[in-house]
Amino acid sequence: MVSHYRSVFTDETKLDLNYVPHRLPHRDTELQLLMKFFSFLLQFPEKMAQRVIITGDVGSGKTVLSQRFGTDISREAGKRGINLHYVHVNCREYRGSLFLILHHVVSTFHPSFPKRGYSAEELLSILLQILDEEKAHVILTLDEFESLIEREGSDAVYKLTRLQETRQNKPQRLSLVCILRNLKAIEQLDTSTRSTLQSNIIRLERYSKQQLADILNDRISLAFKPLAVLEDTVSLIAELASSEGGNARFGIDLLWRAGKYADADGLDSVTPDCVRKAVSSVVPAMRKSELTNLGFHEKLLLLGIARCFKESRKAYISLSEAEQFYAVICEEFNEKTHSHTQLWKHLQNLSSLGVVKTEVSKVGSRGRSTLICLPKISAEDLEKELSAIIEKERA
Ligand SMILES: Nc1ncnc2c1ncn2[C@@H]1O[C@H](COP(=O)(O)OP(=O)(O)OP(=O)(O)O)[C@@H](O)[C@H]1O
Ligand SMILES: [Mg+2]
Repeated sequence: MVSHYRSVFTDETKLDLNYVPHRLPHRDTELQLLMKFFSFLLQFPEKMAQRVIITGDVGSGKTVLSQRFGTDISREAGKRGINLHYVHVNCREYRGSLFLILHHVVSTFHPSFPKRGYSAEELLSILLQILDEEKAHVILTLDEFESLIEREGSDAVYKLTRLQETRQNKPQRLSLVCILRNLKAIEQLDTSTRSTLQSNIIRLERYSKQQLADILNDRISLAFKPLAVLEDTVSLIAELASSEGGNARFGIDLLWRAGKYADADGLDSVTPDCVRKAVSSVVPAMRKSELTNLGFHEKLLLLGIARCFKESRKAYISLSEAEQFYAVICEEFNEKTHSHTQLWKHLQNLSSLGVVKTEVSKVGSRGRSTLICLPKISAEDLEKELSAIIEKERA
């Protein structure tokens, strides 16, 4: 396609936060280790079920590492004629419910499997039955595993892990990869469940500034025109991402935003100033405690704002756009929505706390509208933090 406007980008989708690149700079060792844990499975698929834990801070590459692994091992299994399925589930997206998670796994085999009439345990045995029939093995990745533990406790995890032991002499069908930020979350499980889980742990260390620069440069070669991103720009972004705890997501998001600023200003290259603009609207990093102390509907509104930004990828959204997402969230939680005026007040409070920035803009003949900008924290991170806090509060 011929582009009609000038852009520093060649392919923005390579900066999409869900994009899984072919190479993962500085995660080779971990990827190989993960492969090694499962190599036995490729040789004797029915003889073994594996359990692995991946842990590391926000943006340390846990999700992308396991997805890369999933694609690689599926391809390898395909070559050897082994019926292996990699299924990646984000537990938080299924509100930590074992039933919903298992239903998702079952429906990858039987797409219209009914949602009613079964318990989680029944679903689990149905799944095994299906796998027996199809002579298949599933590697199930439970991403954001904390959410499952929080909601279901030891019990669910026990069911999943002990399952194979009740099937002695039968082929092994289900392996687990559990992803969590902090190993503390599994401390609350009973000792035996914990010990069956803990055998293989892969820890992802924080990325250093240089490592972040390498990751960014790799993405730049995929997403930008040659020489469109200055070297100084890369080091500035790497510096900022490094001070955000080595968060690669923060770096990639900032890189994309800086590129957008370059395009908006009609520049040929992404300069450090584009980066500064992208973070300038940004106030001091958000503290978790700040979020915890917000009123309940302030949290719901902020969650709406985060989701709206996540979907739109715009730099600014209007209050009424955010309000639509807020309304959906209220419905999820069975909460009565606050009025527009109340929401406007909540927004002022969020703004005075520096959580969001607001601006009043003129729109058409309808007069003024309040625009919201989300500085510093990525919409996805904010959504995660808030969801966790809200879930806890509700429980
Ligand atoms: N080594 C790497 N090479 C290329 N891209 C990477 C690498 N590590 C992380 N990324 C990218 O950085 C972003 C964040 O990584 P990812 O989502 O895997 O982090 P995470 O550890 O799962 O974070 P969270 O705890 O918030 O879920 C993703 O867009 C991912 O593609
Ligand atoms: Mg993740």
